[in-house]
Amino acid sequence: MSTTVSNDTFPLADRPVRRLGYGAMQLAGPGVFGPPKDREAALAVLRAAVEAGVDHIDTSDFYGPHVTNQLIREALSPYGGDLVIVTKIGAKRGEDASWLPATSESELRRAVEDNLRNLGLDALEVVNMRFFGDGHNPDDSSVEREMRVMADLKREGLVRHVGVSNVSAAQVAQAREIVPIACVQNQYNLVHRGDDALIDDLARDGIAYVPFFPLGGFSPLQSGELNAVAASLHATPMQVALAWLLQRAPNILLIPGTSSVAHLRENLAAGALQLPPEAVARLDAIAPRGAAH
Ligand SMILES: NC(=O)c1ccc[n+]([C@@H]2O[C@H](COP(=O)([O-])OP(=O)(O)OC[C@H]3O[C@@H](n4cnc5c(N)ncnc54)[C@H](OP(=O)(O)O)[C@@H]3O)[C@@H](O)[C@H]2O)c1
Repeated sequence: MSTTVSNDTFPLADRPVRRLGYGAMQLAGPGVFGPPKDREAALAVLRAAVEAGVDHIDTSDFYGPHVTNQLIREALSPYGGDLVIVTKIGAKRGEDASWLPATSESELRRAVEDNLRNLGLDALEVVNMRFFGDGHNPDDSSVEREMRVMADLKREGLVRHVGVSNVSAAQVAQAREIVPIACVQNQYNLVHRGDDALIDDLARDGIAYVPFFPLGGFSPLQSGELNAVAASLHATPMQVALAWLLQRAPNILLIPGTSSVAHLRENLAAGALQLPPEAVARLDAIAPRGAAH
């Protein structure tokens, strides 16, 4: 299998990006807090990703906080013209590493300034408004106040495109009435399939869907059936989980997270893995369509 990214692309707003990107959250210290154990290793992962052809990196200034964006800047700036860095705002970190909402207008504006400074950019290509919801799952509260601020930030040119994260279908619809939406970033993977209908709706409208926790996040995917399918294809379970997402819908853009160059290469190689129909059927049966836990 190839270790460079497949050329298959989908537009993120007006920028076609390769469907296999990279999520930088794992680069900060334990609990996504403080500096990495091995700074050089973290920089090496970022450089290896871009060298392999990754042109879509997901981050936030609340990873570390600040640490992950500073690593991205050190490893990759001046940035190549085809690299799309997507960040997110809407949270801050407590001194005890807790995740706290930060959604007032002044907090959202400060978060944009922090991202600009730490990434070394004049404008942010895509910013996801991350709603707190119920942890890693959305609630149905109004998104109007925050999305009006996002629309202002876009009008002012600090943010080129707006996305939303941790949102329900109703919240996506409400956000789209206020400002065009480039992407939706929600929890979704082989066993957590609450967004099946939303993904199909967004695909019809040409909007990118970017699953977070594509490999299960802090509780990596574990499934005997996944392992068996992977063994039958001479691939790893993580590669099969990513290949399943790629075949699930054309608007899915992947940002698997890793702090290891070996895992990065393994994940990127999933772009070349073709799943035969019988493998897809076995994987589809692991969790029913629409199932969330
Ligand atoms: N919008 C949101 O609320 C939100 C929430 C969470 C995450 N995100 C974004 O989504 C991205 C992806 O999520 P994530 O990083 O939390 O979870 P993930 O991609 O599902 O999984 C990451 C975990 O899997 C391990 N891993 C990665 N590749 C592997 C491989 N080939 N073999 C074995 N283990 C492997 C990583 O450990 P190693 O470091 O050891 O490889 C890490 O523990 C993040 O980086 C972040 O940018 C967004």
